[in-house]
Amino acid sequence: MKVFFIGDIFAKPGRQLLKNQLEKLKSQYNWDVCIANGENIAGGKGINYNTADELFNSGVDAITLGNHTWSRKEIFNFICSSTRIVRPANFPKGVPGKGRLVIEKNGTKVGLLNLMGRVYMDQPSDCPFQAADREIAILKQQCDIIIIDLHAEATSEKLALAYYVDGRVSAVLGTHTHVQTADERILLNGTAYITDVGMTGPSEGVIGVDKTQIIQKFVTGLPCRFEPAEGNTALNAVLLTIDDKTGKALEILRVNRQTNGFFEKTLP
Ligand SMILES: [Fe+2]
Ligand SMILES: [Fe+2]
Repeated sequence: MKVFFIGDIFAKPGRQLLKNQLEKLKSQYNWDVCIANGENIAGGKGINYNTADELFNSGVDAITLGNHTWSRKEIFNFICSSTRIVRPANFPKGVPGKGRLVIEKNGTKVGLLNLMGRVYMDQPSDCPFQAADREIAILKQQCDIIIIDLHAEATSEKLALAYYVDGRVSAVLGTHTHVQTADERILLNGTAYITDVGMTGPSEGVIGVDKTQIIQKFVTGLPCRFEPAEGNTALNAVLLTIDDKTGKALEILRVNRQTNGFFEKTLP
């Protein structure tokens, strides 16, 4: 089973990039399932029906979220009924939506779990470690392959959780910082790991936002409007190869595709 996981898709430039590139990438990497973090797809903050639909039409099978889950009120119209969108499973009890789902592709089931870290994160959430124990046990009844999107700021918290669940899930993939890390590996008991998958969107801003606005905010401390940066874009993702029977990861390949107009650089 091959799973392609795309890091936080940022606003229109990120969605446009997917529309233009995803089919081409699929013919190259040949994945079975495509998962994307969509917490920034609507104008850089949150998600709405049309932007989610755009992602699905581009070839995304399921969307994960994070601290920007509730940034747009439209989400309350579809979060409960959607079978393809998850928000962090350790959000406080009783909030709408679900934290896990099962995707069935080519006769194989893939469990998807979204968790959020608590270090340097302002969204209230329960312990991600305890939530992982609970949710993995439930998913294990249905599937051998489990992917975790761990939406968190601190590298220590992400790595600690990955070691905590090593061997119980196929992958722990960090999201949220919008900066891809170069530490992808497979842990001793077969869980693939990367601290942060990165971002898909404008590559010339500050984590997606127009750099002039962010510099102004740091220099003056005054509130300002954040708009998506213009210019070049990049697609950050990982391609996982997983053993169908054992659920162990066989390979994690980091993808950082820079698009400079019509010219395209590919790393690797
Ligand atoms: Fe994000
Ligand atoms: Fe985030």
